Amino acid sequence: MSPAQGGAARKRSLWGTRFGFYLAAIGSAFGLGNLWRFPYVAAENGGGAFVLLYTLCAALIGLPLLIGELMLGKLTRKSAIGAMKTVAYEPGIADGAKPWRGKRDWPRHGWVWLGRLAVFASLLVLSYYAVISGWVLHFFMQFLMAPLQESGFDAERSLKILRDNGLLQVALTSVHLLVVIVVVVKGVQQGIEKWVGNLMPVFVVLLGVLVMKSLSSPTATEALRFLFYPDFSKLTLSSPIHALGHVFFTLSIGFGTMITFGSYLNENTHIPSAGFRVTAMDTLISLFAGLLIFPLVIGAPFAAMGPEVLFQSLPRLLEASESGFVFGIAFFLCLYLASLGASIGLLESIVSNWLDDRLFTRRAAAWVSGAGAFLFAMAPALSTTAFRDVHYEGRGVLEIVDAALINGLLPVIALGFSLAVARRLKHELKRVEFVNDDSLTTIRMYGHWTATMAWLAPLLILSAMLLGLIGLFV
Ligand code: PHE
Repeated sequence: MSPAQGGAARKRSLWGTRFGFYLAAIGSAFGLGNLWRFPYVAAENGGGAFVLLYTLCAALIGLPLLIGELMLGKLTRKSAIGAMKTVAYEPGIADGAKPWRGKRDWPRHGWVWLGRLAVFASLLVLSYYAVISGWVLHFFMQFLMAPLQESGFDAERSLKILRDNGLLQVALTSVHLLVVIVVVVKGVQQGIEKWVGNLMPVFVVLLGVLVMKSLSSPTATEALRFLFYPDFSKLTLSSPIHALGHVFFTLSIGFGTMITFGSYLNENTHIPSAGFRVTAMDTLISLFAGLLIFPLVIGAPFAAMGPEVLFQSLPRLLEASESGFVFGIAFFLCLYLASLGASIGLLESIVSNWLDDRLFTRRAAAWVSGAGAFLFAMAPALSTTAFRDVHYEGRGVLEIVDAALINGLLPVIALGFSLAVARRLKHELKRVEFVNDDSLTTIRMYGHWTATMAWLAPLLILSAMLLGLIGLFV
C-alpha cells in the first residue's frame, strides 16, 4: 500500500526489507552532491586540507547527526514537521513537552517552525537540483545523438548549447520535475526502492573504470597530491563552514529527508549501523569522484573551477577516447538516475509532511510541491542567460543560491535538529534504539553520541558559522 492510499486512517507503510531502506537512504545521499558538487567545492577550497576537513566533519558531525535524524523519524513515526510537533507537544516521547492545548505555546512552538524550515530548504534544493539534473540529461542526450552526427560528440559545443539557451534549461528542468512527481505520486515502496536498487552497483563499477582511465593520464600524480596532500595554508576562514555545509548536503542532513526515511524504518533496524554504512559509502564515493575529476582538471585549458567543472572535464576525456560516447551514455544515464533517486527522496519527504497533516492527497501534494520547486528553479535555470549579469564576487545566481542555502540555512537547521535530539527526546527511548543487545561497545558509543549531539556538534557548527561570517567581511 502506498502511504496515500491509507487516506485518513493512514498507517505508515514501512520498508519492505531492511535492504530497501539502505537502498533508499544511500540513493538519497548519493547524487549530484558527490559527483557534481564535491569536486568543485574541494577545488575552490584548495584541495587536500579541505578534503581532510570534510572527511573529519563527515565522521565527527555528519554521522552522529544522521543517526539523530533517523532516530527522530523512527521514534515519532512522522516526517520533519510532525516530528517537531511531537518534540514540542508529546510528553511521552519528549522531555519537557506539554500537550497541545489548542493554542501555540511559545517558545516551544519554535520546534515546529524548525521542521517547516527544513521542508522549505528541501523545496529550494529540489529546485536547483532539478536544474543540474537537467544539465545531466542534456549531456546524456548529446552522447546518445553523437553517433548520428557527422562531427561526433563535441564537449565544448555541448556545454555552449546549454549555457546559451535558457529556455532549454527551463525545459530540461521541467522534464526532470515531471518525472520526479510521477514517481512520487506512485508511492514510497514502488517508487524509491525500484529506481535506486538497480542502479548503485552498476554505477560504482562504471565509476571504477572511468577512474582508471582518468588516473592513467600524465597529470594523475599531481592530482593525487592536490587531492590528498593537506596544505593547511590553503584553508580560509570559510573553509570549515564549506566543509560542514557540504557534509550536510551530501548526507541529506537538515532537510528532514532522513527523518522521513527513519519514520519508515522497521522496528528491528539498528540505526547507528545504518547511519554508519550510509556515511561510509557516501564519503567513499565522493573521494572516488575526486579521483575521477582532478586528473582531468589539472593543467586543462579551462582554468576556472566552478559548478560547471564536471561538465567541462569528463566529456573532454570521453571525447578524446575511443568509444568514449558509450561511456558517456552510460555515465550520464547512471548520474541521471542517481540525481533522480536523490530528487525523489527530496520530494517524498516534502510530500509526506503534507500527508502527516492530512491536508492533501499524495497526488495533490506532489503536484503542488513540484510546481513550487519549478517556480523557484527559474532563477538558477536562467543564471547563464537572463540573469547572466547578476554576480557576487564572481559567482552567478546558481552559485549564490547554492552557497546561501548550504553554508547558511542548512547548518542552522542541522544545529536545531541536533539540539532537538539531544535535549528533548527521552533518554530511555534513545538508549534502546542505540544500544544493541547491551553490548559494551554500543553503551560506550551511546555516551559519545549524546555528548556530540548536545555539545560538540552545536559548538563546532556555531564556530564554523561564526568564522564563515567573519570571513565574509575581512
Ligand atoms: N544528498 C544528495 C546529494 O548528495 C542531495 C540531497 C539532499 C538529496 C537532501 C535528498 C535530500 O546529491
